[in-house]
Amino acid sequence: MKWNFQDIQKQAQDDAQAIGNPQELEAFRLKYLGKKGIVAEIFASLGPADPADKAAIGKGANELRGLVEKLHAEKSGWVNAAKSLEEQVDISLPGTGEDLGHTHILTQTMQEIIAVLEGMGFVTIETPEIETEFHNFTGLNIPIDHPSRDAFDTFYLDAEDPSSKGRRLLLRSHTSPGQVRIMKKHKPPMAVIVPGRVYRPDAVDASHSFMFHQIEGLLVDEKVQFSELKGLLTEFCKRFFGPKVSMRFRPHFFPFTEPSAEVDINAEILGIQRKKWLEILGCGMVNPKVFEAVGYPKGKYKGLAFGMGVERMAMLKYGINDIRLFYENDVRFLKQF
Ligand code: PHE
Repeated sequence: MKWNFQDIQKQAQDDAQAIGNPQELEAFRLKYLGKKGIVAEIFASLGPADPADKAAIGKGANELRGLVEKLHAEKSGWVNAAKSLEEQVDISLPGTGEDLGHTHILTQTMQEIIAVLEGMGFVTIETPEIETEFHNFTGLNIPIDHPSRDAFDTFYLDAEDPSSKGRRLLLRSHTSPGQVRIMKKHKPPMAVIVPGRVYRPDAVDASHSFMFHQIEGLLVDEKVQFSELKGLLTEFCKRFFGPKVSMRFRPHFFPFTEPSAEVDINAEILGIQRKKWLEILGCGMVNPKVFEAVGYPKGKYKGLAFGMGVERMAMLKYGINDIRLFYENDVRFLKQF
């Protein structure tokens, strides 16, 4: 028999493989299935063929036709899809790709602050946003009748504190309860920071939000002095805002530190037109009453503590003038940082 069907099938497969456009697809069809194509030629050879070969030739021709039809159908789907894509889309136009996201400016600021403080030896610990009155107030020497305990100044949950009958759980109003939690669990010396969200039922405006972020710092050892607190925060501000920064310590009162101060940053020097001095943090030497509340031996330890507002720091560093911008998630704002 003059036909080697194996070779012919192999050739058809190779030919199909090489098809790259509609013209080549049509040439392929004609080569095998056309009036003068290979399949027709094989059938035409049946007449003069040796009777013993006829069955094999017929079978071979039918199989070849089946294979070529299958290959043609596969390729035509592919070629037509490619063709119609080219017709529909101007591939020379610039793409409309998705913008890649990136870390939110508040998270970036948190990470920068944490990096500076960790670089100075502090260790980061997170404590819960849902707190007890003990951690948020009592352990911090905030008396039972203090106005900050009022429901106008603290969000209370509709859930009883399982550790204190009749007392409700609340959303922490500052990160200072982290001090109480950490000291209850660990012995000095320690240098820790507690970053996270805090909540206060304030009316929302350009500088207030019912939720914002703080980073608490606490350093406890047998000998700690106010001068170290000053030195540490001065160095911190230089590293965070840059060497140009100008700051001041202003006497203040907190029940859990004594003496206490607030730190203001000179916004003018940072090139921000707003109030001249902007408060960024509260600080002081840990009040011995707090050491007492966490069960430390009387008179043994001294400590320094500070709590800074992350939004305020970001506003000063990046020249943002409205706190609400942080939470609106408008990409025109977010994209700038
Ligand atoms: N918790 C205080 C506040 O939210 C800040 C502070 C922290 C002050 C630690 C002193 C020491 O205003």
